[in-house]
Amino acid sequence: MRIVYVIGTRPNFVKTAPVIAALRKRLPDGRHTIVHTGQHYDRAMSEVFFEELGVPAPDYMLEVGSGSHAVQTARTMERLEPVLEEERPDLVMVPGDVNSTLAAVLTAIKMQIPVAHIESGLRSFDRTMPEEINRIVADEFSERLFLHSEEAIANLRAEGIAKERMHFVGNTMIDTLVALEERFRVADSAAKLGVEAGDYVLVTLHRPALVDGELLPETVHRLAQLAREMPVVFPVHPRTRKMMEAVESEHPGLLLSEPLGYVDFLSLIADAGAVLTDSGGIQEETTYLGIPCFTLRANTERPVTIRAGTNTLLGLDPAAIARIPAALAKRPAQRPEPPPFWDGRASERIAETIAAL
Ligand code: UD1
Repeated sequence: MRIVYVIGTRPNFVKTAPVIAALRKRLPDGRHTIVHTGQHYDRAMSEVFFEELGVPAPDYMLEVGSGSHAVQTARTMERLEPVLEEERPDLVMVPGDVNSTLAAVLTAIKMQIPVAHIESGLRSFDRTMPEEINRIVADEFSERLFLHSEEAIANLRAEGIAKERMHFVGNTMIDTLVALEERFRVADSAAKLGVEAGDYVLVTLHRPALVDGELLPETVHRLAQLAREMPVVFPVHPRTRKMMEAVESEHPGLLLSEPLGYVDFLSLIADAGAVLTDSGGIQEETTYLGIPCFTLRANTERPVTIRAGTNTLLGLDPAAIARIPAALAKRPAQRPEPPPFWDGRASERIAETIAAL
C-alpha cells in the first residue's frame, strides 16, 4: 500500500506523528511518503516538532508559506498535484482542519485518490471560522473518517454521511501526549521561566477573531491586570506577535516567550494553575491532564472538554478574563476520566483499520 501523508502546521505534526509511526510498523512493506506543505515554516513552529516527535524528514517540501486563504490553498493544490501524480498513492492521509488539509483533500479527490481524515466530525457550527469550512469539506470528501470523540457521530450523521465511512478510533493528539509523558513530567519548564508549579496561568492566543482586530489590545490589558494576581506565562504565536507589534501593545508584567517546543509546552500545561486559550488542541490536552482551561471563544468544536468539567467557555470577551481567579477558587480539584479512546492507542486503531482495507 502507498500512503501519502500531507501535513503543514504545528498541530498537524502532533496529530499525525503517531499515525505515521503506527502505520509504518503495521505496514512495513508499504510506501509511506510525507509531504510538508510549508504552511508553518519557522523553526519553532515546524522543524522542532519533527525532531521532538521523531517524524522522519519530509520526502517533499512544498514551501507554500503564508498568504491569504485563497493564495495559501491554491498554492498548496498547485504544488501537491504533481507530487500525487508521481506517487499515485492508494490513500492520502490528512489531519485536522487547516488550509493545508483543505487543499490536500480537494487535490486528491479530483484525482480520484481516496482520502482518510484524522480528527473527523468536529463542528463549532460557526461558519465564520475558516477551520469550520475546512472540516466540512474534509469530511464530505474523505472516504475514511477517523473520529476522535463520540459527538462526531451525530455531527456527521446530520450531514448525511454514511456510518460505513466512520471509524471511531479516539484522539491521536493524546497518543503523542501519552508517548511524551515521561519526558515532559521531568522537564520542569516552569522553573526555567522562573515560575512555580501550580501557581501561574499559561496563555496562548492566535485566532484571527481574537488577535487580528481591536480585541487584542483589550485582551493584553486584561492579561496585565490578571498578572497582578498570579504570574501569566504567554508563549506568543508568530501571528499574534506581528499583531501585537503592529498595535504597539504594552504588556507590563506578562512573561512573554517565543513559541516553545512540545515537551516544554506540555510540561507548562501539566504544571499550570490554569490555562487561558483560543486553541483547539489545548482544550483537549488540559482535559486529559485535568488542568482547568478557560477558552476565550464564543463556541467550541470540542464540547466533550466542557462536559468533562475541565473547560469553561468564557465567550469572545476579554473582560471575562477577570473572572478567572474567582472561578479557580471555587473549582474542586479533580482529574476527570478522559473521554473514551483518549488513551494513547488511537493511532494503532487507525493502522488496524487501514491494514484491513
Ligand atoms: C493556522 C490554522 C489554525 C491553527 C494554527 C495553529 C488555518 C486557516 N489556520 O493558523 O487553524 O490553529 O495554524 O498554529 O489553516 N507565521 C509565521 N511563521 C510561521 C507560520 C505563520 O510568521 O511559521 C505568521 C505569518 O505572519 C502568517 C500568520 O502567522 O501570515 C498566520 O499563519 P497561517 O498559517 O495563515 O495561520 P495560523 O494563524 O498559523
